[in-house]
Amino acid sequence: MKLTLTNHTFSTLLNSSLINLRRPFCSSSLSSSPSTSFKPKVPIFLRPPIYSTKLSDLKKWHNWAKNIASSIGSSFVQSDNGPDSTILCRELKWFIEDVVEDHHSVFSHMGVKDNDENERVKMRADIDELYCLWKQRIEDRKPFQYIVGCEHWKDLVLSVQEGVLIPRPETELIVELVSDVLSKNDDLKRGVWADLGTGSGALAIGIGRILGNGGKVIASDLSPVAVAVAAYNVQRYCLQDKIEIREGSWFEPLKDMEGKLAGLVSNPPYIPSNDISGLQAEVGKHEPRVALDGGIDGMNALLHLCDGADLLLKSGGFFAFETNGEKQCRELVDYMKSNRSASLCDLEILADFAGIQRFVIGFHR
Ligand SMILES: C[S@@+](CC[C@H](N)C(=O)[O-])C[C@H]1O[C@@H](n2cnc3c(N)ncnc32)[C@H](O)[C@@H]1O
Repeated sequence: MKLTLTNHTFSTLLNSSLINLRRPFCSSSLSSSPSTSFKPKVPIFLRPPIYSTKLSDLKKWHNWAKNIASSIGSSFVQSDNGPDSTILCRELKWFIEDVVEDHHSVFSHMGVKDNDENERVKMRADIDELYCLWKQRIEDRKPFQYIVGCEHWKDLVLSVQEGVLIPRPETELIVELVSDVLSKNDDLKRGVWADLGTGSGALAIGIGRILGNGGKVIASDLSPVAVAVAAYNVQRYCLQDKIEIREGSWFEPLKDMEGKLAGLVSNPPYIPSNDISGLQAEVGKHEPRVALDGGIDGMNALLHLCDGADLLLKSGGFFAFETNGEKQCRELVDYMKSNRSASLCDLEILADFAGIQRFVIGFHR
C-alpha cells in the first residue's frame, strides 16, 4: 500500500499480476480458521470445474465482455488513473484462465468460426456468474483480484476478498529485508516474529517460509475477515505449525510476548484520512478503510508501532515498518530518536522498487 495509490496503485497491482506465475504452491485439505466463524471464499481457480457450458455461449459471453472492456477506452484513466481497455482485456484473458478448465483449447477456438459450436467446456463458475462478475469489474470498478479471489505476491497465490487488503508488490521487500537479517543471525532465525495487521497473511507467510527450525510467526489483525482469510492462506501453504493467527488490536493479542520477539514487521494503514476520497475507485471504494486510513497525517498506527517495537522486541530484535513515503519515514525516525533512543537503534530508511523512501528498519538494543 502506498500514498500514491491515487496515481499508481492499480496499475502496480496489475503489473504484479503480470509478472507472477498463477498457481499455488500447495493446496491442502482446509479446516476452519482458529478464531472466527467467518468462512473465507474459495478463489475461482481452486474451485472444482463442476459447470459445463456450450462453447458458443462462452464465446458470446467473451465477445460481450471484450466489447464493454474496449468501450472504456481511457475514461477510467482520466477520471482517477484507473485501468484502461488494454489492461481490462488482459484481465479478461486471466479471468478465462482461472474459470475454464481447458483454457488453452478454448483460447484456440475464441474468435474462430467453429463447426462444433455445441462442444461443451468445463468451467469453475456458472456462465451467469461470469456475466455478473464482469459487470462488477467494469460497472462497480471492483478490483480484479476480488473478482477472481486471489493475488500473486512473491511466489505465492494468496486468497483475497472484500474486507482484506490486496497485498502490494512493494511490501515483498520486507521479506527480503528480513531474509538479509536472518542470513547473519541464527538466533533470530529460531525466534518468534510478529506481523501486525497481517491482512491476507502475506508477510507472515513470506517470513514463515524463511525461518529456521523452531522459528515461528504470530500474525494478528483487528479485522475478523482478515483473520479468517490469513488463516485460510496459512492452511493452503501448510504452515499452520509455523504461523499462529491472533485477532485483536496491535499489541493487545501479544501481551504474552513482551520483551520476547525476535522480529516485528508491519505494513499498517498509513494513508492520511483526507486522501482516501481521492483514491482510485478500485481502492477507495472497495478496499477496507481500516486497512488504509492512518488518521489525519497517516501516522497514527506507525507511531503506535514504534512503542510496540520498544515493548515487544528482545535485545537484538529487528523491526521493519512500511510507510507511505519519505515524509513519514523521516517523521518516524525523528520520533524514535526523540522518544525511543534508549531502546531502538541502527535506524535506517530504505527505498522500494520505485526508489521511493518506503521502509524504516532498526534493532532493539
Ligand atoms: C495496509 S493493510 C496491510 C495488510 C498486509 N499486512 C499486507 O501488507 O498486505 C493494514 C492491516 O492492518 C489492519 N489493522 C488496522 N487497524 C488495526 C489494529 N488496530 N490492530 C490490528 N490490525 C489493524 C487492517 O485490518 C489491515 O489488514
